Amino acid sequence: MRKNIVAGNWKMNNDLSESKKLVKGIKKAIKKKELKNTRVIVSPTYVSLSAVVKKAKKSAIEVAAQNMHQADNGAYTGEISADMLKSVGVKIVILGHSERREYFGETDALLAEKVDQALKNKLEIIFCFGEVLEDRKNDNHFKVVESQIKNALFHLDAKAWKNIVLAYEPVWAIGTGETASPEQAQEMHAFIRNLVANKYDAKVADNVSILYGGSVKPANAKEIFSKQDVDGGLIGGAALKTEDFVALIDAI
Ligand code: PGA
Repeated sequence: MRKNIVAGNWKMNNDLSESKKLVKGIKKAIKKKELKNTRVIVSPTYVSLSAVVKKAKKSAIEVAAQNMHQADNGAYTGEISADMLKSVGVKIVILGHSERREYFGETDALLAEKVDQALKNKLEIIFCFGEVLEDRKNDNHFKVVESQIKNALFHLDAKAWKNIVLAYEPVWAIGTGETASPEQAQEMHAFIRNLVANKYDAKVADNVSILYGGSVKPANAKEIFSKQDVDGGLIGGAALKTEDFVALIDAI
């Protein structure tokens, strides 16, 4: 049975002390909650990963990195390897975020390499994808999403999918205050699950968590999360305040 996930992507926000404070607040707030089938993940910047992993100990909070380099090691100034993430206790990595694609030129081909590298290192992946506004307007959104998933993930065997979480994030909804309607999210999520079922089988498709991302906030989360194929969210802005993030966990 697939899990629900509430994942906070802190992006380039929160210095070390702010990161510690935020994770501490979340830890305290969820201590007595019965999370049942829900995973709680936070994703701070690299410099705070180690401290946040330590603070999250003895809690349900899991910690993800926001990116990772595709090589084992070497002369890649400014980059971080899978080994380095593991060495500070990180077990999850976000790959393919639209900001990485847009501002740092990450292509499907590069992401396929990063996916392989993460899996080789037994890291779980939250794999992001989604169409830009123009694709949606031109009715190309299904085609775009299909090719993003195929190009970066469909070379994997069925077993590898145990370590994949999908995150549909329409670019026009990220940080814009504009959300996909619950119906638009459900329609796309069902399409994605069907893609996976056709490529692999119904079991792989049933077991993969598909998150929605793009201006999820306490006011709209419940309705979005209630949709059958929406298994939680990848949240940016609303993950930066303890009360908001906890409200999102309550909404699932
Ligand atoms: P947002 O970001 O919630 O601020 O729209 C979501 C994301 O980029 O993961």
